[in-house]
Amino acid sequence: MSNLDKHLNIDDLRIAAKRRAHRMVFDYIDGGADDEITLGRNTTAFDDYDLMFKVLAGADNIDMSTTLLGEKIDVPFFASPAAGHRLFHTDGERGVAKAADKTGTVFSLSTLSSVSIEEIAALTSGPKWFQLYVWKDRGLVKEMMDRAREAGYKALILTVDFPIAGNRERDPRNGFSIPPKLGIKQAWHALMAPAWSLDYVIRPSVKYANLSEDTAAVSLQDFVYEQFDAGFNWRDAEWLLGEWNGPAVIKGVVRPDDARQAVDLGFDAVMVSNHGGRQLDRSPAPVHVLESIVDAIGADAEVILDGGVRRGTDILIALALGAKAVGFARPFLYGLAAAGEAGANRAMHILTNELRRDMVLLGIDRIGNVNRSLVERRTER
Ligand SMILES: Cc1cc2nc3c(=O)[nH]c(=O)nc-3n(C[C@H](O)[C@H](O)[C@H](O)COP(=O)(O)O)c2cc1C
Repeated sequence: MSNLDKHLNIDDLRIAAKRRAHRMVFDYIDGGADDEITLGRNTTAFDDYDLMFKVLAGADNIDMSTTLLGEKIDVPFFASPAAGHRLFHTDGERGVAKAADKTGTVFSLSTLSSVSIEEIAALTSGPKWFQLYVWKDRGLVKEMMDRAREAGYKALILTVDFPIAGNRERDPRNGFSIPPKLGIKQAWHALMAPAWSLDYVIRPSVKYANLSEDTAAVSLQDFVYEQFDAGFNWRDAEWLLGEWNGPAVIKGVVRPDDARQAVDLGFDAVMVSNHGGRQLDRSPAPVHVLESIVDAIGADAEVILDGGVRRGTDILIALALGAKAVGFARPFLYGLAAAGEAGANRAMHILTNELRRDMVLLGIDRIGNVNRSLVERRTER
């Protein structure tokens, strides 16, 4: 058994990440906004559902593949976008992109990635989506879209739940910034995380690879506060769709009316998400609002659930409620922070294996056969 094989589930990887990473880095991944109510509920909300398994279904030849925006993927899940992977481990986005490719699924690159759009595009042949934050500087936005299109990213993800940064209190308590500044407290925590610290000091440091040196000279928070455009609205989204002129996903929707409006405007997929509980606390868990959004959209666009997925059974609940696929970030970020590319691979492997086993147990051999009859919302019995 290799060391990584001892991590049997995503929570084991979380504990391993906590052990290896600098405290401010682990908390940046792990934390959420305000009282972290939404962060916690994103996952516990799956407890409100029962999977109604079929017996004697003869499900022994499992096929987990599906399509997403017309592209075949081997599993009904993919890597959601996350900023600055290099901060967690030197393998950074390269490690996660390779793990997604190995799993046969989509890798999404964040606007705020630490490896460039072009380098990730050239690294693997697997499908890639580019996630866009909208800056006040629309020239920069257009330039990013042009670069992503040119580099062959198949779809654009427009993140709309981030008009301003959420109130993540763990970060200022830890003195967190990107790039990290090391005061006495941070230096002390660095001593307690020697593997992370060594890797951080001797390898190339974290940078915003898609931004020019001038833009990146300020800390992430400063940049975010200065550049995020809280005035961005539906008309601007229409402009953006016209500029991109390709498959587009709207990320960070929890209301059926917003989902409907997005589809009417031309988005091809809706990511039901609250940014992993990092933005508006007390916003609903994606799984709780999923069905109402599926009903509002019908067959007009694909619906993706993103947030709180930690088990194969979570994936099956989301699919049974009508999602085409699920996205997640912390599972592979814990893996990356614990052991680089191998850890990200381990996260993908754990969820793939759990899903395969759970499909046999559910009595379903094809993803296309997962349907509403397989899940029931729990009532007190
Ligand atoms: C450390 C971290 C950084 C993130 N950065 C981004 C980002 O740059 N762009 C974005 O659209 N979402 C970002 N997200 C949100 C994820 O894409 C995703 O919506 C969320 O993490 C899903 O919840 P999960 O972590 O429980 O799977 C980030 C999440 C985390 C944990």
